[in-house]
Amino acid sequence: MARIIVVTSGKGGVGKTTVSTYLGACLSAKGERVVLCDADFGLNNIDVVCGVEKSVLYDVVDVIEGRCRVKQALVRHPKFYNLFLLASRSTTPERFISPQSFKLAIEGLSGEFDYIIVDSPAGIDEGFHRAACSANEAIVVTTPHIAAIRDADKAISLLKSYQMKSVSLVVNMAQGDLIVSGDMPTPREIAGVLKVPLLGAIPADYKLPFSDLKSLPRAFKALAEAVRTGKRKIYDTTVRYTGFWGSVRRALKRRL
Ligand SMILES: Nc1ncnc2c1ncn2[C@@H]1O[C@H](COP(=O)(O)OP(=O)(O)OP(=O)(O)O)[C@@H](O)[C@H]1O
Ligand SMILES: [Mg+2]
Repeated sequence: MARIIVVTSGKGGVGKTTVSTYLGACLSAKGERVVLCDADFGLNNIDVVCGVEKSVLYDVVDVIEGRCRVKQALVRHPKFYNLFLLASRSTTPERFISPQSFKLAIEGLSGEFDYIIVDSPAGIDEGFHRAACSANEAIVVTTPHIAAIRDADKAISLLKSYQMKSVSLVVNMAQGDLIVSGDMPTPREIAGVLKVPLLGAIPADYKLPFSDLKSLPRAFKALAEAVRTGKRKIYDTTVRYTGFWGSVRRALKRRL
């Protein structure tokens, strides 16, 4: 049976889709069979982030409304053979997708895959509820900024009522230079404040190939290993900013 993991946050734009996509790609590169499921029925975009939007024939709404079987709606990633996408679409508010029907659609895949990663929409309303209901583990994504941490705290307290096997934290967009200078909390400090185990730390990196998954950055590989094995070897986001060359990089960044 697949592990069904919801990636959620509270605050929007903190990197849920990015983390879901790279985590899925890294797990599939290790031979795990993975489905990435877009649970956003407003601003769905995981198909574009994966670069497979032109191959989407059916989506999860078609599955729920009986126009196809769930396996027909899967799109295999052209580069990661074990990575499949279950896309979503923007629906009108009247076309309400119930948490039960969404969960049922996803559970139809459970027997044939190792992981189902559910990319939650922003917020803590019905979209959050629908995504959380479908999963038995949760990863909360936050950035090191106060508004995101506060919203992550709200999401974490809500997740307690869903009987998750585990709720853990990924700190995204950590800036190593600011952490070293003491101007940004470390991922461990943030996890300590939120009282959840830290599963991964991802540096802010504007060179990430977000649209085509050409390479798999080390921080996401470390996150995938933590998910697979339970051994949390957290990526050090300050690594480029310590030592002699690290202080040169920090000085250069300050001057920009
Ligand atoms: N580690 C990172 N470094 C740099 N940019 C990043 C990083 N993670 C995400 N981003 C960028 O931040 C933006 C928001 O990311 P993403 O879409 O993954 O967030 P989200 O939480 O899924 O948003 P939403 O709440 O709207 O669904 C994107 O442009 C993405 O490329
Ligand atoms: Mg998103």
